[in-house]
Amino acid sequence: MDDFRKNAAEAVSQALIRAGHTAPDGLDAMFEIPSDSSNGDLALPCFRLSKTLRMPPPAIAAEIRENMGTFTGLAKTKAVGGYLNFFAEGASYAAMLDMMTEDFGKSDIGSGKTFVIDFSSPNIAKRFHLGHLGTTVIGNAVRNIYRFCGYNTVAINYLGDWGTQNGKQIVAFRRWSSREQVERDGVAELERIYVLFGKEAEKDPSLNDEARSAFHSLECGDKECLEIWQLLRDVSLREYKKTYERLGIEFDLWDGESKYTDKMPAVVDELREKGLLNLDDGASIVDLSEFGMPPALILKRDGSTLYPTRDIAAACWRYDTYKFDKCAYVTSAGQSLHFAQWFKVTELMGKPWSKDLVHIPYGTMSFGGEKLASRTGNIILLCDVFDEAVNKAYSIIEEKNAELEDKKSTAEAVGLGAVIFGALSNSRIKDVSFTWESALSFEGNTGPYVQYTYARAASLLRKAGEYGEADSADPGPDEIALIKQLALFPDRVKAACADFEPSYIARFMLDTCACFNKFYHNCTILRETGDVRAFRLKLVAATKRILGASLDLLGMRRTEEI
Ligand code: ARG
Repeated sequence: MDDFRKNAAEAVSQALIRAGHTAPDGLDAMFEIPSDSSNGDLALPCFRLSKTLRMPPPAIAAEIRENMGTFTGLAKTKAVGGYLNFFAEGASYAAMLDMMTEDFGKSDIGSGKTFVIDFSSPNIAKRFHLGHLGTTVIGNAVRNIYRFCGYNTVAINYLGDWGTQNGKQIVAFRRWSSREQVERDGVAELERIYVLFGKEAEKDPSLNDEARSAFHSLECGDKECLEIWQLLRDVSLREYKKTYERLGIEFDLWDGESKYTDKMPAVVDELREKGLLNLDDGASIVDLSEFGMPPALILKRDGSTLYPTRDIAAACWRYDTYKFDKCAYVTSAGQSLHFAQWFKVTELMGKPWSKDLVHIPYGTMSFGGEKLASRTGNIILLCDVFDEAVNKAYSIIEEKNAELEDKKSTAEAVGLGAVIFGALSNSRIKDVSFTWESALSFEGNTGPYVQYTYARAASLLRKAGEYGEADSADPGPDEIALIKQLALFPDRVKAACADFEPSYIARFMLDTCACFNKFYHNCTILRETGDVRAFRLKLVAATKRILGASLDLLGMRRTEEI
C-alpha cells in the first residue's frame, strides 16, 4: 500500500498545482486508511488542507478530483463529505500482498537510538503474584515492539532490594527463621516471616524501630545484616529467574535499588548545591508546591535515603551509561505521583534528558473487590494462575486432539498465552478485577483463539506443500478484506510504539483472525487449482507470518499445531 499512497500523494499534488495552488509538504502523511472498506483503500481528509487553501473541505475534495489524472493501481476516486477516497484495482491487492515479506512491519524509526526500559522489578523476598503480571508482560511487549522498530533496547529489572522492608525482613529472619529453612522453602518462607512480622509489630510497635535500625545498619555496611540481605536476594532471584525463563523474558541488567547506594551522596550534594533541598522537620525535601505536587522526599531524618532518591541516582547512571533517547518505567498507576515528582526534580536539576523519561502506568488488579497485597496476604500466585491455565489447555487438547505429538509443550504455550493475552488485550490503563473464569477462558477474543488461528494457517500450508506463484489475481471481497487488514500491521506497530500500547497489537490480531476465519470459511483453498489456489495460499502464508510476528511481539509462543 506504500506505493499506492505515494502515487496518490503525487497525483494530488499535481492536481493542486493544476488548480493554481501550491502543493503542501508532507501530503504523504495526511492520508488515512478508511476504517470502513466501502470508503475505499485510502482517504485524504481534506480538512487538513483547508487552512492553507482557505477553502471548505468538500470544495477541496471536489477540486482535486476534477484536476486529478489517473495512476497505476487506481480504480476510481470518490469525494464524500470532506474526504477524497481512493479505490485500488484488483491487481494492486496482489502487489500489496507481494510486499508482505518476512520483515513486513519492521521499521528503522529507532535506528541508532537507545530505549531503556525498567519493568517487572519485584521487591525481593516476596513471591511473584498477580500484581506483577501487568508490569512484566506489558514491559516485555513494549520492549519487543521497540526492538521491532529498530531501537537498541536495554531491559532492566530494577529489583526492590533496598528499603525499610528489608530491615523488617532482617529482623524477622533473626527471630523466626534460619538459613536452612530459607534454603529449603525459598521465598515462601521469606514471605511467611514477613507476614508474621506485620502481625507481631501490631502488638509490639518497637519491632518497627528495630527494623528501621536494621536497615540503617545495612546502609552503613554492617556485616551480619549484609549477609542476611544477600541470602534474601539470592533466594529471591533464583525463583524469579525460573518464572522469567518460563515466560521467555530476558533482561540485560539485574541492577536493583541497592546498586545505587554509593551513587546517592553525589545526587544529594548536587541538589544541595543547586539550592533545591529544604529541611522539613529534620528530613530533606524538594518543594514541588509550585507544580501542584507534594514535596519529593530525599533524605529521612536519620539520613536514610528513599525510593525517589534512588530513582534519581539510577536515572543519572542510566543516562551516563547509555545516553538513552528514552528511558521508560512500567508500574501500576498507583505510582504515577512518585514518577511525576522525581521526573520534575531532574528537570529542576537542569538535566536535559529529563524530558525523555516516561512513565508507562497500567491499571491496578484487584481480586474479590480488594487490592492485591502481599503484606495482608490477599494474593494469587502467578505460578498458580499459569499452572491452572496450562492444565486446562492440556485437558482440552487431550479431549480434542489426543494424537498431538507435543501435548505438554503445546499446553504450556496455550496456557501461558491465555494469561498473557488476557493481560494485554485491554487498554493498559484500565483497572482489572481478576476472575478465574475470564483468566481461564479460551473462547471468544482470547489468546488461545489467536494461537488456534495461527495453527490453522500453519496446518493449511503443511497440507498444501509447494504452491508456486499466481500469475494473475482477481481477489474477491473476503480476500480483499483480509489483505487490507494485514496491510494495517506496520501502522499498528508504529502506533503501539508511540503510545506504549501493546493492546493495539492484540486488537489487530483479533481483527486479523476474524478476517482470516471469514476468508477460510467462504473460500475454498486446497481444493482449488492454478492461480486461485496459489494466490489464496500466498495469502494464508502472509497471515501466518504476520500473526506469528504479532505473537512474538506480545511474548506469546507460536503454535504450529494444536
Ligand atoms: N519495586 C517496585 C515495586 O514493586 C517497582 C520499581 C519500578 N521501577 C522504578 N525504577 N521505580 O513496586
